[in-house]
Amino acid sequence: MSPLTLGDQRDPALEHAAALVARAWRGFDEAREIETVPSSELLARLREELPESPGDVIADLDFAADVLDASLAQARPRYFAYIGSSGLEVGALADLLAHSYDINLALDARGATQLERQAIDWLAAFLGFPAATGSFTSGGTISNITALAAARERALPGSRSTGMLGRPAAMYCSAEAHYSVTRAAELLGIGRDNVRDIAIDSRRRMDPMDLARHIDSDIAAGITPIAVVATAGTTLTGAVDPIGAIADVCEPRGVWLHVDGAYGLPAAAAPTSAPLFAGLERADSLGVDAHKWMFVPKACSAVLVRDKANLAAVFSHNEDYIPHEDDELNAVDVTLEYSRPLRALKLWLALRVHGAQAFRTAIEANLAQARLLYGLAEAHPEFQTRDHEPQLSIVPIRHVLPGCHDIDRHNEYLCRAMQHDGRVYISPAVIDGRTWLRPCFTNFRTTSDDVRVALLVAAELGSTICSEH
Ligand SMILES: Cc1ncc(COP(=O)(O)O)c(C=O)c1O
Repeated sequence: MSPLTLGDQRDPALEHAAALVARAWRGFDEAREIETVPSSELLARLREELPESPGDVIADLDFAADVLDASLAQARPRYFAYIGSSGLEVGALADLLAHSYDINLALDARGATQLERQAIDWLAAFLGFPAATGSFTSGGTISNITALAAARERALPGSRSTGMLGRPAAMYCSAEAHYSVTRAAELLGIGRDNVRDIAIDSRRRMDPMDLARHIDSDIAAGITPIAVVATAGTTLTGAVDPIGAIADVCEPRGVWLHVDGAYGLPAAAAPTSAPLFAGLERADSLGVDAHKWMFVPKACSAVLVRDKANLAAVFSHNEDYIPHEDDELNAVDVTLEYSRPLRALKLWLALRVHGAQAFRTAIEANLAQARLLYGLAEAHPEFQTRDHEPQLSIVPIRHVLPGCHDIDRHNEYLCRAMQHDGRVYISPAVIDGRTWLRPCFTNFRTTSDDVRVALLVAAELGSTICSEH
């Protein structure tokens, strides 16, 4: 037997791994008061040399679990930094299964390929994006680049072969679009300098009139518009660009509309927030990260397009080692990535096991938590809020303590103090030159009590550190 099987240790290792996973899940059920940080012994072991001879799988699994326990886990209910996730239990089980079979979706994988298609159809139905086709990708970045590559080929047919030939082209998004949009422009030969920053309104949403002005002046100057990227949930404040009004600008001008919904798009399925996403069905493509607000473990993003022909136009190709049968497209003829694991399984299994309604309910709960924090902070004499209620689940707040002279520095230090304290994990954000605490709620384990604790901890530590700077 190969030394690379677990042999007699297989069943004990599986049982032990299951016990470790169960322990982790129990540990995520409630917040812990103190975060475990890596001990010096653990750090020393993480500098050990490459092992040449076999170790003990049980002991090594324990060591791995210790390392993970001393890591920042987004699955914990009071992880409110950046845009977190949840490591949904059934999603983790699906990953174990998928990785055990190690199926590759670069080509037709029979059952798994059909399963991915069904998961794409379910996701499209969940979001309200009809007639979609698409694929699962490694993240919002790749979903955006995939869609924008198709947009470039539609706007400049043949550019995948010839390059840009010096033809000037431009893309359009609000100044608050995610950097992956700019990165796509860099990689696709459009150029970062040709990404137009469209003005935003008081709620930080793209201004469609300004968009129309930019596109029209580019067209008049002989510059080809490649695509407009509407952000459905900006990373900074959770603003949702007005998709319908943006589609009104794109359609008559024949410009591709991509919706970057990496963070926020699942909220299109929640009744409270659905109206914000009106017009989504008019987009040419969208990207959504199921590993953010659909709670499944990383990495699980999806790119959906209205017309499969657009993907084939930019990605189809011939390789001698991948023959086409009966002119059928292979998966790699419509995807940017080649080897692809079965990322769809975790979303598919989660939807089967929990049902779509459970996801809508969990998203609604996060939206309510955002409103709760906004209300509590607004009513608190030491906290400042934004002028408008949060559109989604990001709630920037500022600790404004009388006697504290440099409020920006104070909030920056407060964030650090909270991260060090360990009860609540929060990240800062700079909005219009001012530093804010920027909690974001995307975890089904978070409770209203966790939200209250976040504000209490911020007030408590804020008062303590103010005297120190
Ligand atoms: C709006 C938006 N787009 C794209 C991305 C990039 O997604 P990923 O990190 O999955 O590549 C993010 C990440 O936070 C995001 O918020």
